[in-house]
Amino acid sequence: MKLALRWQVLLLGFVLGTSGAFAADTPTPSIQAAPLAQRPGHAGIASANALATEAGFEVLAKGGNAFDAAIAVASTLSVVEPESSGLGGGFMATLYMAADKHSVFIDARETAPAAVNPKDYLNPDGTPNRDTALKGPLSAGIPGEPAGLVWLAKHYGKLPLTASLAPAIRIAGGFKPDERLLGSIREEQKNIERWPASAAKFLPNGNAPAQGEIWHDPDQAHTLELLAKYGDSGFYSGETAKKLVDAVRQAGGDWTLKDLASYRVKERTPITVDYRGYKIITAPPPSSGGVAIAEILNILSGFDLTKLDQAHRVHLVVEAMRRAFRDHNDYLGDPDFVKMPLDMLLSPYYADGLRQTIVPDKATPSSMLAPSNASDPGMHTTHFSIIDADGNMVAITATVNYVLGSTFVADGTGVLLNDEMDDFALVPNKPNVYGLLGSKANAPEPGKRMLSSMSPSIVIGPDRTAVIGSPGGSTIITQVLEGILAFIDGGDAHQVVAHKRFHHQYMPDVVTVEPGAFDATTSDALTHMGYTLKQREPWGFMNVVIWDRRTNKLDAASDPRRQDGLGKVQ
Ligand code: DON
Repeated sequence: MKLALRWQVLLLGFVLGTSGAFAADTPTPSIQAAPLAQRPGHAGIASANALATEAGFEVLAKGGNAFDAAIAVASTLSVVEPESSGLGGGFMATLYMAADKHSVFIDARETAPAAVNPKDYLNPDGTPNRDTALKGPLSAGIPGEPAGLVWLAKHYGKLPLTASLAPAIRIAGGFKPDERLLGSIREEQKNIERWPASAAKFLPNGNAPAQGEIWHDPDQAHTLELLAKYGDSGFYSGETAKKLVDAVRQAGGDWTLKDLASYRVKERTPITVDYRGYKIITAPPPSSGGVAIAEILNILSGFDLTKLDQAHRVHLVVEAMRRAFRDHNDYLGDPDFVKMPLDMLLSPYYADGLRQTIVPDKATPSSMLAPSNASDPGMHTTHFSIIDADGNMVAITATVNYVLGSTFVADGTGVLLNDEMDDFALVPNKPNVYGLLGSKANAPEPGKRMLSSMSPSIVIGPDRTAVIGSPGGSTIITQVLEGILAFIDGGDAHQVVAHKRFHHQYMPDVVTVEPGAFDATTSDALTHMGYTLKQREPWGFMNVVIWDRRTNKLDAASDPRRQDGLGKVQ
């Protein structure tokens, strides 16, 4: 219990008030005694790109279930939103099977190659080398997404991969990139130009395609066809594997065919936490998201947030976030490599101890670690949510990590590699691109999965259910937490995704605040309590589907902060 002792124990008391930080504008009216629906009878999909959402519906119309639709959405995003996720990256998925009410977590996270060498991420003078951590083949882990798609089809889908990958293959034959992708290409042009195959893919005439121009991705179409035809061996051995390894090694990376052949998807037990009558099913390690969300909710469950004014409510939430992120830095990593005190971290008694350390009306300074500087959390990762007609549900967050991943495309494959190696604590206690610090638990080791913040979640309440998630680096955790609280407070899908955000991650000891999240009274009160508030441009790209089991209505919404997403019910 080393952590619990770090905090001074003080008794708690606060000022009760009225307005709510999470209360939705117009709560769903309660409908008394209506029998609850057992299956929706129609489907809802929310993703970051309209083509991907439509691809999901196309596969449902062919007789697929939510998991087949998820394959269609993820593979289409690989083509149309490569700045966020793709075959060269990985994903984490929380699945719920309606037939037996069983949930499972699919870990298709990348792994470090066997030859990983921490020295590659240091400059000769011992300072962190941010370029090798974030750009080029050394920044890339062994991709998990292709294996994850094959796994979903084999174990949970109804259709063959040839059917569920068909929309992505067709779209790769020609589509109009959206402005967000074109902007990402322009932003990363200098890095893209470092590798000829990257330039050939993203800068067809020496520059990003013009808006409205049709873009073709024949190499990725071919790679997807091999995956559809041969499953795992269509990517992890044979032609694609050889091209990937050759390209990586020629450009100074250290992958081997064995690294690819030995990649395995892991099925894990999700983390579940009960909060105010709702069951939250969320991501276990190697994501830190579920542990942090559970810890925060366990701390908050000792308070009645609905009775507090916004400033005191935010105070408690931020203090809970601070304590959960503190544990994130110290304890969490790949469960196949590190022993984590999960029983302690998830225990209500542990939360009781942490709750006691929250000082009323006063911020607790985060003082143990040197301050770090989080960069813009951006939205270069993607989340989508699906509920099908039978009530099967899937929440998937997929990523190549930072914008356009490593910017390195393996020649002849169309596959843009991730830069997920930066999610390891490559240099102990030096911040990664999201300002996260890490320790030995998240140090790089051969075959190890790097810690993630991805938090695809399913929330089952007494009469409403939500599928929720978002990109945003370390802010994923706090976005999903705040989205869950907004849902529990009665918010509909649009209200949940639109909900104004704030974030604290222990270090730096600053509350980042979206414009409009707090009124002047709240900001003044928080400043008076000792918080440093920093306004930041809106972040995240949340996609949510909600099933109201009283009215049997589905409701899907995509984050209004972004233009290209589509939440749709049909
Ligand atoms: O797994 C993680 O936590 C990160 N690679 C996610 C990156 C991310 O969300 C980037 N963008 N917004």
